[in-house]
Amino acid sequence: MKKETKRNSFGGAIGFVLAAAGSAVGLGNIWRFPYLAAKDGGGMFLLVYIILSLTFGFTLLITEVAIGRKTKQSPLVAYGKLSKKWKWLGVVASLVPVIIMPYYCAIGGWVLKYFLAYITGQGAQTAEDGYFTGFISTETEPVLMMVIFLAVTAFIVFRGVNKGIESFSKVLMPILIVLVIAIAVFSVTISHTDADGTERTGLEGLAIYLIPDFSGMTVGRFLTVVLDAMGQMFFSLSVAMGIMITYGSYLSDDAKLARSINQIEIFDTVVAMLAGVMIIPALYTFAGRDGMDASGPGLMFVTLPKVFDAMGDIGHIVGCLFFVMVLFAALTSAVSIMEAVVSGIMDKFRVSRNRAVLIETAIALVMGVSVCFGYNLLYFDITLPTGSSAQILDVMDFVSNNILMPIVAISTCILIGWILKPKTVIEEVEKTGGKMGRKRLYTVMIKFIAPVMLVILFLKSLGVGL
Ligand code: PHE
Repeated sequence: MKKETKRNSFGGAIGFVLAAAGSAVGLGNIWRFPYLAAKDGGGMFLLVYIILSLTFGFTLLITEVAIGRKTKQSPLVAYGKLSKKWKWLGVVASLVPVIIMPYYCAIGGWVLKYFLAYITGQGAQTAEDGYFTGFISTETEPVLMMVIFLAVTAFIVFRGVNKGIESFSKVLMPILIVLVIAIAVFSVTISHTDADGTERTGLEGLAIYLIPDFSGMTVGRFLTVVLDAMGQMFFSLSVAMGIMITYGSYLSDDAKLARSINQIEIFDTVVAMLAGVMIIPALYTFAGRDGMDASGPGLMFVTLPKVFDAMGDIGHIVGCLFFVMVLFAALTSAVSIMEAVVSGIMDKFRVSRNRAVLIETAIALVMGVSVCFGYNLLYFDITLPTGSSAQILDVMDFVSNNILMPIVAISTCILIGWILKPKTVIEEVEKTGGKMGRKRLYTVMIKFIAPVMLVILFLKSLGVGL
């Protein structure tokens, strides 16, 4: 019999918080949060988001981390350990990162391409019409970029929890915060005069972002804001895909769980808010109100390069700093996605970390190449239930985010809230002494509010009109 090797673990609470925050802070914070905030009444969205973060987000996050620490297993095994009949949930939860990894790496490759363009002084080209579509429809370059991004991710995961994930997060996350703050400060100080003489300033843009806009507010509209905020938070906290269970399983028994959870949430929310301060004023100043409608790849790879270009010389530096920052955010998220899969393979099949990394890299490589080819050799265009048109990447995104993740989250609420009872999590949190705050809130959330809200969110994301 093979001797059981000691489970990896984080060196300390700070390492855990930074690694988990590294997972949470990703493309979602940068390309989706600011857009939603601008669309959903500025400050009001921020307020709703903060309240949801302290209730809904707190519930989901603490549940997963506690499951991980209690079972000391990755999700593939953890759910079965909690209850034999719920083994399937571990399989579904582990499938999510397998699906997300390839397209996250493809996008990571695009970010890398833009970073390289800026650092080699070719930033202006990225602002030309058709640059982005031209790039992703070529066959080799996007694959090459994806492979580099994947290789760096695999290298960090291969180094292990302590020497890889933790030590890289400890360096990358502080740099990321400094960059975000610097770009945000710059963004509110700029101004621009259009050809027709209209002047717009970053401060005006900041006001649009921060001041709550209640105009045209109805109950239905308010519900949309809440659901938007909830959907965003769900993705942003990296829950419902086993990552937080995996990271929780590396957390030592004497770490103060509740406090760490709060810190992760604060980190994630602060970066999301600052991303808004960074992007909205710049968009408003150089692209006007219309420019503020952009989100997703269109925002990052088409609109923002134009904004950087309009800034003149300094735009090259800002663009360069911006894309390094995004690269770090994407890298630490990709590391967490890969680790969730790798630890599952290690725990389930009892293979070494090296071998598990190799297996997952191979899977991500094959699927990632298909994602890249989705814009040329394997191109198709179908319409998703949500109404948007989709290529391979979007289909994978839809299956993982709109179908599997809600199923995992709803089932987790039922398992913990009704079958095993909330005390399972509460006891785990309080194991190290110290009371768990918001205990009653937690119980009500996990049993009633969270599952109901998640079902509504699920139906909405399937395109069912409400
Ligand atoms: N939470 C990350 C974000 O906000 C995205 C992410 C998704 C990370 C899936 C890991 C896994 O962008």
